[in-house]
Amino acid sequence: MKELPKVELHLHLEGAAPPAFIKGLAREKKIDISGIFDEDGSYRFTDFWNFLKVYEAACTTLQGPQDFYRLTLAVLEECAASGVVYSECFLSPDFCGGRDLGAWREYLHAITEAAALAEKTMGITLRGIVTPIRHFGPEKARETALCAAETAGGFITGFGIGGDEKVGALKDFLWSFDCARESGLRITAHAGEWNGPDEVRAAVHDLGAERVGHGVRAIEDLALVDELAERGTVLECCPGSNVALGIYPTFRAHPISELDRRGVKVTINTDDPPFFHTTMAREYDMLNRAFDWDEGQFRRLAAQALDAAFCDADTKTRIAKLLEA
Ligand code: ADE
Ligand code: ZN
Repeated sequence: MKELPKVELHLHLEGAAPPAFIKGLAREKKIDISGIFDEDGSYRFTDFWNFLKVYEAACTTLQGPQDFYRLTLAVLEECAASGVVYSECFLSPDFCGGRDLGAWREYLHAITEAAALAEKTMGITLRGIVTPIRHFGPEKARETALCAAETAGGFITGFGIGGDEKVGALKDFLWSFDCARESGLRITAHAGEWNGPDEVRAAVHDLGAERVGHGVRAIEDLALVDELAERGTVLECCPGSNVALGIYPTFRAHPISELDRRGVKVTINTDDPPFFHTTMAREYDMLNRAFDWDEGQFRRLAAQALDAAFCDADTKTRIAKLLEA
């Protein structure tokens, strides 16, 4: 499974930070976050809401562009080891200079420098999706959208939203999404992970999302499933994340296979891999075991993911060649 070339569309850059990397930064900066780690060195959390707190505590160690340069290289090394050739990652100006445009530009410069080095040395291409955090509220999201608009194009290809789905409504963020769209950014939104089908409807209808982060709880409404299939809406499924956080008890119980059978464009992703003890290679492995998916199925889904990527046509053509290898 490691050898198969892979495309990943849903990965949080900070959420992909190996715990040893964050521990190292904490030591350097004398920040005490020992409570977020288990005895075995992995991240420790009790549920999704506690996960968000642990995530934000880990982010307090990421204090400057140079930290993000190192983080980007560490993350891409892991992705490349799993056979990922193209990745889109969520970047939050909240954690990159507190949504100040000047600071954001410096962080982004460091991230793109690291991405360019990784492309040369590891053969993996990275693009960024700017992402406000829902539970930080619509006001902060506006500042985030302005950062996105000012840096749209090239490396920054999309705009999304993550965080606590139980807080507020997606339509409260419409100004930010319109601002991003008007700057030429493509739209995705986390929905239908913790809330049900209506949240997926809101992402598609209210925000005009062409991709939905998770979106799996659409399966609870088959009319919506048919609509997603008809529209060609892409679901960024993260089965290992959903199982680790208790949304589904096992991979076998995950709806990715049924959504695929019903004609929805599903993709395979890791979300925050070290938090959920996963990698893209492990996701493939677990899906192979749960649904007997074979190489043909994985190649089809990788091509589907590339088709749904937010990068330009030349990049897609180049990556398509790698997928055929
Ligand atoms: N941020 C990082 N991981 C997330 C997830 N699984 N859902 C919502 N926001 C997130
Ligand atoms: Zn996510």
